[in-house]
Amino acid sequence: MTPGNTSSNSAIAEYLRQQEEKPLLRFMTCGSVDDGKSTLIGRLLHDTKLIFEDQLAALKKDSRRHGTAGDDMDYALLVDGLEAEREQGITIDVAYRFFATDKRKFIVADTPGHEEYTHNMATGASTANLAVVLLDAQQGARTQTRRHSFIASLLGIRHVILAINKMDLIGFDQTRFRSIAGEYRAFAEELGFRTIDIIPISARHGDNVAAPSQNMRWYEGPSLLSALETVAPEDNGVSQVFRFPVQYVSRPNAEFRGLAGQIAGGEVARGDVVMSAKSGEVTTIKRIVTADGDADLAGKGQAVTLVLDGELDISRGDMLASPENPPHVADQFQAHVIWFGTDPLMPGRGYILRTETDVCLTSITDLRHSIDINTFVRQAARSLARNEIGVCNFSTQTPIAFDAYKDNRSTGNFILVDRSSNLTVGAGMIDFPLRRSRNVRWQALAVTKKSRSALMNQRPCVIWFTGLSASGKSTIANSLETQLHAMGHHTILLDGDNLRHGLNRDLGFTNADRVENIRRTAEVARLMTDAGLIVIVSFISPFSSERQFAREIMAEGEFIEVFVDTPIKECIRRDPKGLYKRALAGEIENFTGIDSAYEIPQNPELSLDTMLADPETLAKRVVDFLAAR
Ligand code: ADX
Repeated sequence: MTPGNTSSNSAIAEYLRQQEEKPLLRFMTCGSVDDGKSTLIGRLLHDTKLIFEDQLAALKKDSRRHGTAGDDMDYALLVDGLEAEREQGITIDVAYRFFATDKRKFIVADTPGHEEYTHNMATGASTANLAVVLLDAQQGARTQTRRHSFIASLLGIRHVILAINKMDLIGFDQTRFRSIAGEYRAFAEELGFRTIDIIPISARHGDNVAAPSQNMRWYEGPSLLSALETVAPEDNGVSQVFRFPVQYVSRPNAEFRGLAGQIAGGEVARGDVVMSAKSGEVTTIKRIVTADGDADLAGKGQAVTLVLDGELDISRGDMLASPENPPHVADQFQAHVIWFGTDPLMPGRGYILRTETDVCLTSITDLRHSIDINTFVRQAARSLARNEIGVCNFSTQTPIAFDAYKDNRSTGNFILVDRSSNLTVGAGMIDFPLRRSRNVRWQALAVTKKSRSALMNQRPCVIWFTGLSASGKSTIANSLETQLHAMGHHTILLDGDNLRHGLNRDLGFTNADRVENIRRTAEVARLMTDAGLIVIVSFISPFSSERQFAREIMAEGEFIEVFVDTPIKECIRRDPKGLYKRALAGEIENFTGIDSAYEIPQNPELSLDTMLADPETLAKRVVDFLAAR
């Protein structure tokens, strides 16, 4: 290596080091194409890239002249930290763009699209420190402006810049600017932002974007870029307490066992005492392995593998934390939810909850209220529609480790995934754990399900009949019970119509009520299998999500789904209760198969075609199925 090379290499190294040391600001833009968002981002990238690329070009030229392989200028220094977000698989709709100035580097979460903006915002904002809310000066603040600002504040963003765009189209009118700014400030002041900057711009012509505008000398504040360069980037309420959500247990060979993940708060040093949040076990850090070898210390945002001194019972989804200040571990908590599912959020329905590393089944035990984004007024609600925001109590099937969102955005957020479609339908910010679970313990019982069923000399199970009204469920269920009874089995038949006279008397036929109807019935069915009984359930149970819930709360192999398959035409023809006639005449609302959905079972244990055999024969098939088990 010649001295020349060395100097060029060190120039590049120096440049990269400077880049690395530059503070990073992550921000997001909210607004639509009509507001000029694309133009603004294009303008920002264009005006700043020039600076950035000039520097790069100079360095590349320099390195080429000296014959080194220094061309390899990747943008990794800017991309750093995005991996974890990608792994979560929730950023697909968000484009990240990178640019840098002399003072700072920036990652902007660009959330394209019109309709999807709430979803995109929620995912894009999870790591942003600042939001640029864009509006069209000709239009002034609209509902969308308020919604964006409200969501930004909810997502923990503490700095907002309102960019009033298209000033050129209103003749750079100061009075109009003042009036929009005043109105917005009055609204945004309630949202708890630390800084609110309001800047008149013209993205198209570049006024006040990267440089002060000659057309608006009356404006004395900073340009957008200089506001972005000066806002305190670390000032985002991120907790400094050590948090390490475990991504996976790394075991490349018999000698090595480490915990891989990304530090979500604070820092960790070799020799530190740490605790497994879930088990409460304590040990010390033996090694901190990074991509560049062992380190003595690692901090927030770094991806590392931690080797512990003692073997802890720890797996993906657990969290290592400082024992003095551990996260919450609970299976009940309150959270703010932004809903973006096409189907509304339904209390009682099961959803998949994903934190950064943990996954479990959850349901909403209480929808406390929704929030009107224009007035912040709380409203009683029974479900949340797309783009609505609410406060809910959650119950998870297994405890999760978390912090309040206000203390740590990484460990305090989660997403909700629909179990049938696998789509992300909501974003949650945890407020606090609910400690009910501490006072209400699970009591161990001396007589078990096994001993009860042994006494009855049978294997308990749930035979779950699902199908349209008048499909023949109740008739087959009745015949089945008669046959089992005659064989000496202990049974119970839970019928939809009957339970709606008692336990489920308060429920109607809206989707939300049907969800709750099935949830309660599934719980009752489970209790009865605990009693040792063979439980026959006959409910329309139109949604696969709730049937899945019923299946999952039962022991393996004890849930037998029986689809009573009768074409709707035939049900309408039979119509024993005259209900189809009335539904078709518009006298009954939400009637299954008419104006309310029935989701056909995809993998039932049994499917009974009532056009081909009589109820007794079909019931016998269920008996045979049970016998064959
Ligand atoms: S479920 O959808 O929540 O599972 P469930 O089985 O309890 O329904 O009750 C269905 C019974 O309620 C039907 O057999 C019918 O007799 C009666 N019923 C009254 N209104 C409706 C309706 N809108 N949709 C379906 N069934 C209805």
